[in-house]
Amino acid sequence: MENAHQDCFFAVLGFSCGNMKRLFSFFFFLLLLILAVSVVHGEDGAFIGVNIGTAMSSVPAPTQITALLRSQNIRHVRLYDADPAMLAALANTGIRVVVSVPNEQLLAIGNSNATAVNWVARNVAAHYPSVNITAIAVGSEVLSTLPNAAPLLMPAIRYLQNALVAAALDRYIKISTPHSSSIILDSFPPSQAFFNRSLDPVLVPLLKFLQSTGSPLMINVYPYYDYMRSNGVIPLDYALFRPLPPNKEAVDANTLLHYTNVFDAVVDAAYFAMEYLNVTNVPVMVTETGWPHKGDPSNEPDATSDNADTYNSNLIRHVMNTTGTPKHPGVAVPTFIYELYDEDTRPGSASEKYWGLFNMNGVPAYTLHLTGSGVLLANDTTNQTYCVAREGADEKMLQAALDWACGPGKVDCSALMQGQPCYDPDTVQAHSTYAFNAYYHGMGMGSGTCYFSGVAVITTTDPSHGSCVYSGSGGKNGTSLLNGTSLAPSANSTADSGAHRAIGDVSSFVRAVVAALLLSVAILL
Ligand SMILES: *[C@@H]1O[C@H](CO)[C@@H](O)[C@H](O)[C@H]1NC(C)=O
Ligand SMILES: *[C@@H]1O[C@H](CO)[C@@H](O)[C@H](O)[C@H]1NC(C)=O
Ligand SMILES: *[C@@H]1O[C@H](CO)[C@@H](O)[C@H](O)[C@H]1NC(C)=O
Ligand SMILES: *[C@@H]1O[C@H](CO)[C@@H](O)[C@H](O)[C@H]1NC(C)=O
Ligand SMILES: *[C@@H]1O[C@H](CO)[C@@H](O)[C@H](O)[C@H]1NC(C)=O
Ligand SMILES: *[C@@H]1O[C@H](CO)[C@@H](O)[C@H](O)[C@H]1NC(C)=O
Ligand SMILES: *[C@@H]1O[C@H](CO)[C@@H](O)[C@H](O)[C@H]1NC(C)=O
Ligand SMILES: *[C@@H]1O[C@H](CO)[C@@H](O)[C@H](O)[C@H]1NC(C)=O
Ligand SMILES: *[C@@H]1O[C@H](CO)[C@@H](O)[C@H](O)[C@H]1NC(C)=O
Ligand SMILES: *[C@@H]1O[C@H](CO)[C@@H](O)[C@H](O)[C@H]1NC(C)=O
Repeated sequence: MENAHQDCFFAVLGFSCGNMKRLFSFFFFLLLLILAVSVVHGEDGAFIGVNIGTAMSSVPAPTQITALLRSQNIRHVRLYDADPAMLAALANTGIRVVVSVPNEQLLAIGNSNATAVNWVARNVAAHYPSVNITAIAVGSEVLSTLPNAAPLLMPAIRYLQNALVAAALDRYIKISTPHSSSIILDSFPPSQAFFNRSLDPVLVPLLKFLQSTGSPLMINVYPYYDYMRSNGVIPLDYALFRPLPPNKEAVDANTLLHYTNVFDAVVDAAYFAMEYLNVTNVPVMVTETGWPHKGDPSNEPDATSDNADTYNSNLIRHVMNTTGTPKHPGVAVPTFIYELYDEDTRPGSASEKYWGLFNMNGVPAYTLHLTGSGVLLANDTTNQTYCVAREGADEKMLQAALDWACGPGKVDCSALMQGQPCYDPDTVQAHSTYAFNAYYHGMGMGSGTCYFSGVAVITTTDPSHGSCVYSGSGGKNGTSLLNGTSLAPSANSTADSGAHRAIGDVSSFVRAVVAALLLSVAILL
């Protein structure tokens, strides 16, 4: 019995049993793998964090905020200030924290060494290490929103760094400043991107500083706005990380790199813009990115929960997979989602208030579909994707595609007949969604099988309704399982054991798997 089991185990791995030499090489191979994994993924190689903005009519208590973070297994946050009550609540949670110098305080700090020393003493040293502060973000998009304050940025950064050095914290805490991606000009193709040259007097010394301190370039990446401002040049699918037919992928003619999403293109534009200034060893950290789940339907029609779910779910999968970018494949891009809560008192367009993953009561704004992101997720019921008719698609094109699917496409469309479960609603939109989805699933969800001349799109929202169950769906009852989870298993995941896998730590999972394999080998030996 035992032998049979061993045979099985090694047959699976491609080894015959009883051959000790091979077993040993397998063993060493695993050891090497572990070493490789530890080198490639630092503790914090790939991680997803969240921004916590507090422009809310009723701000949750800091302990409620940390309870939400823990229940969602969120292990990295960025604050827009260094609120003492929030920091107190984050103490001893193991959550990594980026604190910020708000723009209003830049003037004082940039003008006075003593103020910087004071700031670090009160907002950083007083809390470290019980609060694991990993970085100070100095200002927010200063170069693009407060050009007059630009000359203060480097002095403020230097004074703060001196203060960290004096407090012997510079080894643990990095200093940088988040930029709007708008300071990168000509960002497509990425290889031609460069920083707005009039900012060189600040950016050149900044990059030198980041280089010498091993700190990241912080950049805010908003494919939503890039898409909105592109007047149709950027396809929605490209902004949302949805698969594009190969002939629609963007190719950088200089490098021949293929870009399948806006996020990667912007991150690579940042790398190329640095390279243009001869800086090649500063990593990129995305301090903000996200998608609004609601907006003014008349002028922000793409601010929907479906799109927000698609963007953030795909983003998380992309970042956690350490896919890297075309220019730097496999290089982690640590990323903070904008943002944890909807901020209902933010001024501006309607969507400004709806970037949150949760409303201010901690209720999920929408359900993320994270299975397939590796380790993080609860049950696999929401893994599924569906192919649906694009909203607002031309009816004639839809009808033609529907006719094709139910005819030459060989989809069984009998459920669409009068009296059958999917007859209602009797619209071209609904019927073609049924047929597109059936075709897509019939073709094993292969790439390019949800296209139909551009009138079909992939979604993670199950279009099933009533007794009309779509291909790939367990029925609505199946998917309601995850009533709103988001980033993690909904089981209580408080910091009760060090073994919890954070949303951040892919490597610890890989190590665990490898260790488990090793253990099996040891037992068998
Ligand atoms: C700022 O303070 C640091 C450490 O106290 C000191 O080394 C540096 O000379 C001061 N710089 C100025 C401009 O006062
Ligand atoms: C703080 O976070 C850093 C980076 O993830 C990690 O290396 C370090 O061990 C943490 N420190 C503490 C005290 O938890
Ligand atoms: C470059 O930066 C300058 C100074 O902030 C600004 O006035 C100018 O509009 C920017 N140029 C572009 C093309 O964004
Ligand atoms: C970058 O390096 C090239 C070649 O060494 C040099 O010609 C150029 O001036 C440098 N550019 C900057 C901004 O330092
Ligand atoms: C994860 O990365 C691997 C290669 O690094 C790639 O083949 C795979 O498609 C990626 N998966 C996702 C979901 O992006
Ligand atoms: C996940 O699935 C298992 C078994 O199918 C079930 O026992 C468990 O309750 C599910 N967990 C959640 C969070 O749905
Ligand atoms: C979920 O996705 C993974 C990877 O894409 C796949 O292997 C698995 O079969 C999927 N599960 C379901 C229920 O579709
Ligand atoms: C969903 O549940 C309801 C009631 O529990 C049941 O009537 C219905 O048939 C179920 N639908 C599917 C698709 O299982
Ligand atoms: C599902 O979420 C809603 C709020 O979104 C909540 O009122 C309800 O109690 C939840 N149901 C379950 C079973 O958790
Ligand atoms: C989760 O926490 C709640 C309240 O803290 C508790 O009532 C419940 O039993 C816990 N569930 C598990 C699975 O630990």
